[in-house]
Amino acid sequence: MPAPSRFLRSSFAPVTEEITAFDLPVTGQLPRELSGRYLRNGPNPLGLDDPNYHWFMGAGMVHGVRLRDGRAEWYRNRWVRSKAVARARGEEWAGGPVHEGMDFAANTHIISHAGRTLATVEAGPLPYELTAELDTVGPCDFGGTLPGGFAAHTKLDHQAGELHAIAYFWAWDHVQHVVVDASGRVTRSTDIPVAGGPMMHDFALTARYIVLLDLPVTFSLSAVSEGRELPYVWNPEHPARVGLLPRDGSTAVRWIEIQPCWVFHCLNAYDDGDSVVVDLCQYTDSFDVSTLGSAHGPVTLDRWTIDPAAGTVAQQRLDDRGQEFPRVDDRVISRPHRYGYSAVIGEVNRAITMAGEFADDAFANALIRHDLARGTEQTREFGRDATVGEAVFAPASADAAEDDGYVMAFVHNPERGASDLVILAARDFTGDPVATVHLPARIPLGFHGSWLADH
Ligand SMILES: [Fe+2]
Repeated sequence: MPAPSRFLRSSFAPVTEEITAFDLPVTGQLPRELSGRYLRNGPNPLGLDDPNYHWFMGAGMVHGVRLRDGRAEWYRNRWVRSKAVARARGEEWAGGPVHEGMDFAANTHIISHAGRTLATVEAGPLPYELTAELDTVGPCDFGGTLPGGFAAHTKLDHQAGELHAIAYFWAWDHVQHVVVDASGRVTRSTDIPVAGGPMMHDFALTARYIVLLDLPVTFSLSAVSEGRELPYVWNPEHPARVGLLPRDGSTAVRWIEIQPCWVFHCLNAYDDGDSVVVDLCQYTDSFDVSTLGSAHGPVTLDRWTIDPAAGTVAQQRLDDRGQEFPRVDDRVISRPHRYGYSAVIGEVNRAITMAGEFADDAFANALIRHDLARGTEQTREFGRDATVGEAVFAPASADAAEDDGYVMAFVHNPERGASDLVILAARDFTGDPVATVHLPARIPLGFHGSWLADH
């Protein structure tokens, strides 16, 4: 019998039940100004019998905690009901639009826009709309206005009310920039020619530009025919380049070639005079997206300063500690940011390196708060077995300062064998949590989430 995939073990192991729990126990004091839902999406495969299972391929399950009036009202976890998930659970599929036959239980992110709560995924399938209590409404093509597929990562320009996405699909000879307006309709889509079918997991947005990352991880038919874990591979023949697509409607992209590298996630980007600054987590040199292995050390937090006139990208290392899932206060997306948050996840670092013995600190779990104006950082350690995921910033009020608020994340509590929602004051990052909500179940390591405030 083949060994089970490492993405089905320990912190990655899926849960088997959907739970609804009310009035959750809390240590500390939940801030009364936190009224809303923290939702997080991630893969939760329906079975354990696929030895070739890849973390990116599990059916999406959303975990949510509802906070109101200083109480943790409920916890829910729900699979996204794609056709396959509905069938496996003996339920009727809600039905709805499907792009190119690619129906999938969106597993990567969860956002809210124009009154819709959307579970999102990339590479072709449509997002799924959920209710406020995480039940599936059905696939969403924005009222028939979306021309193709959508994307896992989106960027909302809070000032303009525009939601931006870059859709890609293996059979296209382009990627597609999509703008969804504040009413939830696609108002613009622009095809950008690209060769080789690159994976574009994320992008960046400034007030003037969409920043495209055309990097050497590309679709591979032979990976499909060989039954590889993922149909995307490192492709040394594919030039690495960064593209600036103007937001003013012009379709001329300024492409600049860079050294081969891989980037899953951008922290944020902004215009600085005629230059563009992008902070991101970079895997230098080659990266195997099938095994999530990098040949050349950990992923680092770097700053790229793009000069479109000179055609150059200057690179600066901001932090060399292996970290991922970078986030800013969502309100500053596309504008200058001072603070950023990222996660050091021991189980991910172990799974993606898979070689030899590691020192204890290889299993560290921590959140990092970066003050990029001062060039300093604070590290909040959670302990070897206390797996932590992506942190999300929740402002104390709609017009609070950039760091006036809370940082929240699901953290595994090894003593209880279940997860906690840990809420830190951003301005007291290494102090005791202001509140810890004790959840009734373990939450597997997942991907991305959002704080969805009621107002
Ligand atoms: Fe992501």
